[in-house]
Amino acid sequence: MALKTVEWKNNSVIMIDQTKLPSSLEYVTYTDYNQVADAIRTLVVRGAPAIGISGAFGLALAALQSDAKEKDQLIQDLETAQKTLLKTRPTAVNLAWGLEKIMSVAKSEKTVGQIRVSIVEVAKQMAEDDIQINMSIGKNGSKLFSKNDTIMTHCNAGALATVGYGTALGVIRATKESGKNIKVIATETRPVQQGSRLTAFELKHDGIDVSLIPDTAVGYTMANGLVNGVIVGADRILRTGHVFNKIGTYQVATMAKQHNIPFYVAAPLSTFDMKNNPEDVIIEQRKASEVTGIGDKKTAPDGINVINPAFDMTPPELIAGIITEKGVAKAPFEESIKKLFQAN
Ligand code: MRU
Repeated sequence: MALKTVEWKNNSVIMIDQTKLPSSLEYVTYTDYNQVADAIRTLVVRGAPAIGISGAFGLALAALQSDAKEKDQLIQDLETAQKTLLKTRPTAVNLAWGLEKIMSVAKSEKTVGQIRVSIVEVAKQMAEDDIQINMSIGKNGSKLFSKNDTIMTHCNAGALATVGYGTALGVIRATKESGKNIKVIATETRPVQQGSRLTAFELKHDGIDVSLIPDTAVGYTMANGLVNGVIVGADRILRTGHVFNKIGTYQVATMAKQHNIPFYVAAPLSTFDMKNNPEDVIIEQRKASEVTGIGDKKTAPDGINVINPAFDMTPPELIAGIITEKGVAKAPFEESIKKLFQAN
């Protein structure tokens, strides 16, 4: 059975608690938007599309929690919730996208009753659409890979990073479903280990051949002919084709270029930020303990200085293509990305 990361049921939000994986598959149920904000902050739910939809569901909870009798009061309550949800994580643009979409629905309705009904309906529809969009990304991306290819991926851009199916792992699923037998190499993705905890878990769960490597073996596997292509997800893509994704993506892309291996990015149009420039994007800095230990085990001396950025930027010249639900953008990216939006 395919994993469903986040879902709306009986006026509550149900999520897989990803901090518990791979040891146990547990679900949490939230009825308060503050709980959803905490879940995003603490990585109970993570991955750009998944936090976008969680944000939308968070606002749906806020609408149900509010005792406002007038539209203006309800909009004010929703704006308070929007601020709380938005400040949880700064890099993935999908969070702002999900929140803004729900706020515009709220503002377009006339009565508090209509606002509550519409927000819940639209948020549920966004979750359904996410799966369909990922399947389209998968179909578009599957044409780029051949039978018996081994594809490297970094972090987790799978069902667990979306509502279901995944972006980068969606392409891998669709390639396999199209009859091409492929294998996957997953990087461990220190410090939070989304590769070993989540990608390896998810692919193994779905019966896809996956080998786990330490991040330090990216060069070795590429230099020894073990990799035919790379595919990763994204947290934010600029109109110029600059891609913000999990820390280490830039190293993988640079190494792929060195070995003439195509490096692809898979993401929905909701991951594009057409307004900002590279210097405007905030890279989330996370706590030192993620680096000074693995799980509960300490692996560094007390008091050591730590630099722990959660994301990095890959420049367009390292990217062979950006796979979206509307097609594949290739260099020159500024033109091809614009065309994707015109096709929308
Ligand atoms: O810190 P995380 O686990 O939220 O980071 C996730 C990533 O970097 C993913 O690659 C990205 O969000 C794309 S998910 C389809």
